[in-house]
Amino acid sequence: MKSTFRCSSNIALVKYWGKKPEGIQLPANPSISFTLKDLYTETTVSVLGSNTSGNPEFNFLFEGNPKPSFIPKLTDFFDRILNNYSILKDFRLQINTSNNFHHGTGIASSASGFGALACCLAELEELHSGKPVSVEQISKTARLGSGSACRSMFEAPAIWGSHPSVQGSSNEYAIPFQGNIHEAFAGMMDAVLIVDSGEKSVSSTAGHELLKGNPFSPARCGEATLHLTELCTALETGNMADFIRVVEQEALQLHAMMMLSIPYFILIRPATLSIIEAVWAFRKETSIPVMFTLDAGANVHLLFPGVHYQQVKILIDSRLLEYCQNSEYFCSKIGSAPIKIQ
Ligand code: DP6
Repeated sequence: MKSTFRCSSNIALVKYWGKKPEGIQLPANPSISFTLKDLYTETTVSVLGSNTSGNPEFNFLFEGNPKPSFIPKLTDFFDRILNNYSILKDFRLQINTSNNFHHGTGIASSASGFGALACCLAELEELHSGKPVSVEQISKTARLGSGSACRSMFEAPAIWGSHPSVQGSSNEYAIPFQGNIHEAFAGMMDAVLIVDSGEKSVSSTAGHELLKGNPFSPARCGEATLHLTELCTALETGNMADFIRVVEQEALQLHAMMMLSIPYFILIRPATLSIIEAVWAFRKETSIPVMFTLDAGANVHLLFPGVHYQQVKILIDSRLLEYCQNSEYFCSKIGSAPIKIQ
């Protein structure tokens, strides 16, 4: 038995930052993201033989090589999901995984990585037990590996975290955005500008922890809840100005929360700010709706409708590449559900 899946990374528009004090990997606030079709992980899980130890047993290869630094996170993950996956109790597993973006670009791969792994485990579990595994269950499993991974399951924007005006929303798993997306957002793209490809000084997981007991956290949760409402409305009405305002405000609030943590830390770099200023200047000059967002690092994601690809490429090549490490950036279309590879 073996299963192979491709799962895309995602970029949050409203950010998940902070976990609930209770439960495992439950978000302090709701978030919404776009999946990045062209930045993905491919994972194969194969059954090696029977497992009589009662504990999960696995071999893990990342891009063909052992990766000991990933083992503790995988072990925790398997312990969390053990009771729902009889394959983990009954078989020894071989896991082979690789990203189509090379490691060391600073692009987070935990979302696509745990997303792909959750899809493979679900398929093997279905084959072994004969019981179907729902997409909610797969999303929930991915969440237990890395919170943001639960949002990589849909072509539509993914909403994770319970929100009073989003029907069916849950802290346990992500759901696809239900509304009709306005044509203003047709063919959205993301250009990821690599400002710093090094290891982050503070991981996302550590950053989330620092918000527990932070006096600014309740206000931040309120902001994210409001922003999600505003963003969903903008997606439906085509109000690009509101969409841009919310997306950029969210990126800045995420990094403001890092600066307001104890101990405080800063992940953006001078080049990050130079790019932001150049994007604002370009938008003022041209009225082209290109906006920035950030994840927990120095890299800048430029979001724009695909019709403006040529102008944005000129912007990047002429004004932004000088701020990118090794002049490197990656362009991706938005929107892709996991794909089963035969
Ligand atoms: C800033 O999902 O990487 O990218 O749940 O601890 O694995 P863990 O953290 P992770 O956090 C992502 C934080 C973010 C915002 C987001 O993706 O919503």
